[in-house]
Amino acid sequence: MSLVKVVARSTSFSFRTDAIAADKSISHRCAMFSMLAHGESVVENFLRAEDTMNSLRIVEKLGAKVVDDGDVIRISSEGIQESDDILDCGNSGTGMRLFCGLLASAEGHFILTGDEYLKRRPMKRVTSPLRSIGAKVDGRNDGDLAPLSIRGASLKAFDYESKIASAQVKSAMILAALRADGSCTYKEPELSRDHTERMLKGMGADISVDGLTTTIKPMTKLLSPLKIRVPADPSSAFFFAVAAAITPGSEVVLEGVTFNPTRIEAFKALERMGAEISYDLKEDVYEPIGNITIKHAPLKAIRVDDNISWLIDELPVLSIAMACAEGRSVVTSAEELRVKESDRISTVVDNLQACGIDVEEFEDGYAVTGGTLRSAEVDSFGDHRIAMSFIIAGLRCGMEVRDIDCINTSFPNFFELLSKITEIQVS
Ligand code: S3P
Repeated sequence: MSLVKVVARSTSFSFRTDAIAADKSISHRCAMFSMLAHGESVVENFLRAEDTMNSLRIVEKLGAKVVDDGDVIRISSEGIQESDDILDCGNSGTGMRLFCGLLASAEGHFILTGDEYLKRRPMKRVTSPLRSIGAKVDGRNDGDLAPLSIRGASLKAFDYESKIASAQVKSAMILAALRADGSCTYKEPELSRDHTERMLKGMGADISVDGLTTTIKPMTKLLSPLKIRVPADPSSAFFFAVAAAITPGSEVVLEGVTFNPTRIEAFKALERMGAEISYDLKEDVYEPIGNITIKHAPLKAIRVDDNISWLIDELPVLSIAMACAEGRSVVTSAEELRVKESDRISTVVDNLQACGIDVEEFEDGYAVTGGTLRSAEVDSFGDHRIAMSFIIAGLRCGMEVRDIDCINTSFPNFFELLSKITEIQVS
């Protein structure tokens, strides 16, 4: 239950880094997808944070050989083996939901569990469609709450139309489809992040995307192994983007970030608010990757109400930029925020109010009227993105944030980078 005191930054800063944490979504997928390949997958810059290291440990428990030289991680597998232990996903919804799809057709019996927060998050969004195609998945509350038990079964081909734009649900169903008994389609209401499709296609899977519909043909042979350097995570990078955007005269350059359009919508939103942002494309391996430069400029209010899944993880820290902007910003159609690592509508609203900001709560979002952020003592509610968002707010006014250990789930070197732009005391 450690806490951090952040000292307000009174002068401008210029900061360049190539050390933003590696992408969490891609790292989870590297661990899992290498179990579908023939031969050794080689992963550079795997995210060494709690969530993704849990996925790596699970893959090992499922029989994969993992060789980690402290730099590159090599993963090889001869198929999924039954484990004699429970599989602990820690705090990670992505871990638990994608493993459901991967294990639904594997031979054996598996138990997925997680921490106190994950055990409260809804799993029916994956267990229900998986059950409808023959998966034997169960859990508390009729399969909605972990621990989940899975007995691998043969899966039927499907045409599934999801009501929620969720990459986790889509990915679980794509993984199930790879071993179903015929060609499958998955349709979503809005395009969610598409790392699964890009990576599996790159490994040789027969996956095609037409608008919002993905068609998946079952695997006829094992896939080619991954050879990948994981790019920096735009969701982690965005904390430093907001830091520059709210500090007059400041600039940051964030190197090696994925420009995947389903991931950089928050940068576009910040640009609409008035920040100066430029993109310098450097390479294109599975994903376009490059450097992003963000310069402060006076911010104005915006409305955020579409392509929500493209910036869902960045909304908490975007609310800090909104608190520093001129006018009333409105976020709607974001009810998914309520089922993240915390109920991020209520945790954002509570914490902004504690900082003296005028906020109105809606069932599916909030309205933030820009004003003067005041120093406060706030809680992370065990949610890494809430913790980091209010630490960034501290640049403006000073802040004390409690229960910050959760930051290790996604961004273990956050404080090391933050200490380059402001004074902090962690205790
Ligand atoms: C993720 C998908 C998103 C996101 C999460 C990571 C992924 O969740 O919020 O942090 O890696 O697939 P949903 O797909 O449930 O919206």
